[in-house]
Amino acid sequence: MSMLDTSAPTQPFFLGTFASNCSGGMSVTKIPERWVSSWDNNLQLARLLDDAGIDFMLPIARWIGYGGETNFHGSVLETITWATGLLAHTRNLTVFATVHTTANHPVVVAKQLATMDQIGRGRVGLNIVAGWNKPEYEALGLTLPDDHTTRYGYAQEWFDIVKALWERDEAFDWDGTYFKLKNVLGDPRPPSRPPILNAAGSEEGRKFAVRNADFLFTPAIDLSRSKDEIAALKQQAIDAGSSVEVLTFSHVVCRPTEREAQAYLEHFARANADWDAVDNLVRLQFAHAQSFPHDLLSLIRDRMAAGHGGFPLTGTPEQVADGLTALHAAGFRGSTLSFVDYAEEFPYFRDNVLPILEERGVRVAPAPAQSAA
Ligand SMILES: Cc1cc2nc3c(=O)[nH]c(=O)nc-3n(C[C@H](O)[C@H](O)[C@H](O)COP(=O)(O)O)c2cc1C
Repeated sequence: MSMLDTSAPTQPFFLGTFASNCSGGMSVTKIPERWVSSWDNNLQLARLLDDAGIDFMLPIARWIGYGGETNFHGSVLETITWATGLLAHTRNLTVFATVHTTANHPVVVAKQLATMDQIGRGRVGLNIVAGWNKPEYEALGLTLPDDHTTRYGYAQEWFDIVKALWERDEAFDWDGTYFKLKNVLGDPRPPSRPPILNAAGSEEGRKFAVRNADFLFTPAIDLSRSKDEIAALKQQAIDAGSSVEVLTFSHVVCRPTEREAQAYLEHFARANADWDAVDNLVRLQFAHAQSFPHDLLSLIRDRMAAGHGGFPLTGTPEQVADGLTALHAAGFRGSTLSFVDYAEEFPYFRDNVLPILEERGVRVAPAPAQSAA
């Protein structure tokens, strides 16, 4: 069963990782030890996370890089195959696939996820992306509608088909605005619906997320804003007759002393940031997406270099635990973590930060981990 089951909430604050399938991970840096997103590195990381009781891994679906000296996110493992491999090699983690609706036919995706659900014994999740990165759509020969109403209208019909294939036990025809299907049947079907994630920022996108997703993913830039934003989203969900949990993403630089952590941040995210790639990333985000608040540009530019806009967790284990505790107190139900070198740095976090969170009741220690095959 998925560790992200919100109907039996045993974990106060979920933890996962984000973007380990992408070159550079979440750090737009030129330093030579930046993350190499090879299969071997991902497998090593997944086994560490699985054994430590971390709840999930979330990949980014990306088809072109952001340029600059490093071509940040130029080398990316495809997420359906990545997740399938990881599910086969782990026992406890939920592993998400991230899917662009326009680039992936819903009948194919419904069956891919049903297959993955068997391989992972109920541990697969789906992150739905309705599209924002215009040059990427051009690279694929696809048209990204300029207006969010069409983007999310398409995504809604796409997901309605996926759900119908997962739920209906008789073949059906579909006569919609974007899809005409004849005599389709989902077989096999997952016994229960995999957790759905969506990271919309726009008003139309959030309506979609609240209606369809178990988890809405949003940046945590200013926690006093986040508190109100989360309360509003939860109310919006109640008004729509559903419920939603809100997750965010954080970047960890954890060292025995604050001075060491700050020095490392300065090294990889200031002195050696790939600023051309950062500026491309910020420009594209601001042109086509509404995920980050547009009035906080300079703060966001710095945070883009360090952790793709993620909440900064920089300092001693106590300080990092304080940051995660503050996210929990603001109403977030969980966060992803990223590190410059995930596999190298995660064990220090595991041994020094997780016990503090457990002591504070922010995390519940997992049942003794089963070792992966
Ligand atoms: C945590 C997070 C994960 C995301 N993952 C992806 C992804 O893998 N691929 C992608 O193209 N967009 C991704 N996005 C973009 C969102 O799906 C969405 O398109 C974007 O935030 C713009 O929101 P809007 O469509 O409401 O303007 C992600 C955004 C966030 C905040």
